[in-house]
Amino acid sequence: MESETLIVQGGIPLRGRIRTKGSKNASLPIMAAALLSAEKIILQGVPDLLDVQTMIAVLESLGAAVRFRPREETIEITPGSALSCEPPPALVQQMRASFLVLGPLLARCGKVRLSLPGGCAIGSRPVNLHLKGLSAMGANLEVRGGCIEGETGGLRGARIYLDYPSVGATENIMAAATLARGTTILENAALEPEIVDLANFLNSMGAKISGAGTTTIRIDGVEALGATKHTVIPDRIEAGTLMLSGVISGGDIIVENIVPDYLKPLLAKLREVGAVVEEIEPTAIRVASSGTLKAVDLKTLPYPGFPTDLQPQFMTLLALAEGTSIVTETVFENRFRHVEGLSRLGAQIKVEGHHAIIQGTRMLTGAPVCASDLRAGAALLLAALAAEGVTEISGIVHLRRGYSRLEERLSRLGARIEIGRQVSDRALGLGS
Ligand code: UD1
Repeated sequence: MESETLIVQGGIPLRGRIRTKGSKNASLPIMAAALLSAEKIILQGVPDLLDVQTMIAVLESLGAAVRFRPREETIEITPGSALSCEPPPALVQQMRASFLVLGPLLARCGKVRLSLPGGCAIGSRPVNLHLKGLSAMGANLEVRGGCIEGETGGLRGARIYLDYPSVGATENIMAAATLARGTTILENAALEPEIVDLANFLNSMGAKISGAGTTTIRIDGVEALGATKHTVIPDRIEAGTLMLSGVISGGDIIVENIVPDYLKPLLAKLREVGAVVEEIEPTAIRVASSGTLKAVDLKTLPYPGFPTDLQPQFMTLLALAEGTSIVTETVFENRFRHVEGLSRLGAQIKVEGHHAIIQGTRMLTGAPVCASDLRAGAALLLAALAAEGVTEISGIVHLRRGYSRLEERLSRLGARIEIGRQVSDRALGLGS
């Protein structure tokens, strides 16, 4: 089958200004939570991504009317009063975030049949915490034939302690609790900015949530949620990827539409490796290479720790730093699949369990590589920008899941990226 590739001529320092899009990981849970209302929800700043298209298809399969204007980055969702509670498994399995309709559907319809998200390139990713929380609120949930079948005579508030501050479980439980009878107290909740954005969105629909962004979230259930208009927060992971593109390419760029507070762990690490980082406006940061990059150690953690979604991209930077760095991945069990591609470009990386040991090299050289997942694709694209010669990246459907027209936008900073066609991965001898 023919698929698109990116053909990158490396070695060009990027220069200029680039604007960050709205957050994918805020848009998806907010779109799912729109199901909690029957009325019209208007969302602004929603990026034009494959994952957003998938969530639109999920919502439509449930009976919601959805209108997306990608140029305006605006989406209108009118769930209506008669929702189906069984999204097609094939659709749900395309994207793990589809699982975020579980809480809203249970709360709205009292029953649900939802395919399990299944395995994934970065680890097994169970959903036990989602199920434990919703069960504590009075849902009967069973796994049958690869699906979660759930029903409830009415959700009720509960005190729930999450064994791990899972982002998705916090979102599913918080959304469901908005329509439960009584008060839910969610402890050891995830602290991510996307959780706060979801809470702000739900409150604008009439929910009563306090404490989002802290470890304890209180949700007082209400009868119904109504219409609203909400703008999603900027994408901190895209912003980080763009900043890294400036430094890795040896360039000097300004990244706009960012919230520096969300990016503290990345900014600290960028300064530690010796990059120039300057907050020139409240929502714009200049980043540049200072010439020499120094090795640093890094450990991914739930927010406000270093985000796992920037680990692959930062590893590309470390592959070009002077000395030996150790990257420890604590959030996902198998998130080093970018190492194979980086090694093909000349990076010297050894993986031992949850650790990657990176011996910095002065230069990467272009080669054909394959993106195995979204952030691995981003890491390879960044490496290609720095590598001498031409790199052809296949598997870019993964990149399209989470980045909107990235090659076009980087080209405006001087990058030389063309779209290629590949008949099959086998032609290049690259497994996926
Ligand atoms: C979200 C983000 C993803 C990011 C991740 C961690 C979205 C759409 N995706 O994913 O980009 O990488 O947060 O910042 O927002 N876990 C369990 N049981 C559960 C749930 C999770 O063991 O019931 C484990 C997972 O396997 C994983 C860890 O907890 O090892 C973190 O997962 P979680 O925080 O839930 O991430 P997601 O919400 O899936």
